[in-house]
Amino acid sequence: MNVIWRNYICCLRLRKVPHRCHSGSHPVAPLGSRILTDPSKVFEHNMWDHMQWSKEEEEAARKKVEENSAVQVIPEEQDKYESEASKYWDVFYKIHKNKFFKNRNWLLREFPEILPIDLKTKENSRESSWDHIKPNATNCFSRIQEEKKHFKKSSGSSDGPSKAGSDFSNLDPKKLGKGPLKTELFPGSRANFRILEVGCGAGNSVFPILNTLQNTPESFLYCCDFASGAVELVKSHSSYRAAQCSAFVHDVCNDGLPYPFPDGILDVILLVFVLSSIHPDRMQGVVNRLSKLLKPGGMLLFRDYGRYDNTQLRFKKGHCLSENFYVRGDGTRAYFFTKGEVHRLFCKAGLDEKQNLVDRRLQVNRKKQVKMHRVWVQGKFQKPLHPSQNKN
Ligand SMILES: C[S@@+](CC[C@H](N)C(=O)[O-])C[C@H]1O[C@@H](n2cnc3c(N)ncnc32)[C@H](O)[C@@H]1O
Repeated sequence: MNVIWRNYICCLRLRKVPHRCHSGSHPVAPLGSRILTDPSKVFEHNMWDHMQWSKEEEEAARKKVEENSAVQVIPEEQDKYESEASKYWDVFYKIHKNKFFKNRNWLLREFPEILPIDLKTKENSRESSWDHIKPNATNCFSRIQEEKKHFKKSSGSSDGPSKAGSDFSNLDPKKLGKGPLKTELFPGSRANFRILEVGCGAGNSVFPILNTLQNTPESFLYCCDFASGAVELVKSHSSYRAAQCSAFVHDVCNDGLPYPFPDGILDVILLVFVLSSIHPDRMQGVVNRLSKLLKPGGMLLFRDYGRYDNTQLRFKKGHCLSENFYVRGDGTRAYFFTKGEVHRLFCKAGLDEKQNLVDRRLQVNRKKQVKMHRVWVQGKFQKPLHPSQNKN
């Protein structure tokens, strides 16, 4: 173990981490602080954080990927996985309902930006610093104050289904996403803090967020998925509240499809294990479009599979579509990102990197005495306050 790493572990243990999550630095306490220092104790916990890979482990992973991508799926089949992508996911949700993914309970810990500023202040009163979000938080705060004034002026009262919601049952979809919309016309138009979760699936992030937002009626959550079965699961959940949430069917790869709200109004976009299921050739277009939905100062929060994650190494020959892109037995697909790729995707879309880190963990099956290296990439990207401010 080298000296820097030993000192770093020491810092984590003593919780003397000077800054949280600065771009390019080591992942720090929020990504966990259970460090494996004594290998003989590996089976004492299910997960160990901040694992460093040896050169040999990295090389073995590279070889495994080389082997499992030696044969690629034939083009005709690849076309079918692309054109029928939503069908495969729909079947997935028909089979698994909301039982497959666990609730993303880590979400608010890793992404406090999801909270409107008032809640964030409350939640963080026990924490010493959130250095990396302060600039954004300040901007958000002044925006919220301005919008609150605007809201009071334009609506006059808080009648209707909720403060944040709006009756949009008679909406003309052709009017949406094209040019300026009248503020009363879209769901969540009265909100002053708006979040969109893309590829929400059965709602494993939606419901932890909605539970947290229930005391901030001026915030609003949009969530979409191209699998209509997933959206139905969200809408029929006992915790779904149309007053504060709008779930809709939407394919983010289809550029021509309007969103049920105008561009430039979102404070936060959440992209959690979604981009990996989209064809690499289409990712940049998707990110570019999403970036337009953000307000200046708004944040895009990303978490997804990282290169050489155990899931990638376990693919058998015949599942590879292209480099680091695979199809599972059920027709759904998965890409495995590097930090550099994530940086390029979001910065090319005009966003500034606030965090971009590789989360390496060791997952342990104590019963079977099996160890698995897990790798995820997590990033936070902010829309500049002024278009010319993009530093990339
Ligand atoms: C791995 S699941 C993750 C679900 C959820 N984000 C979570 O973390 O539990 C990927 C989700 O992305 C959705 N998805 C994939 N491609 C999409 C697209 N082009 N437009 C909208 N949703 C998409 C799938 O239907 C699926 O629900």
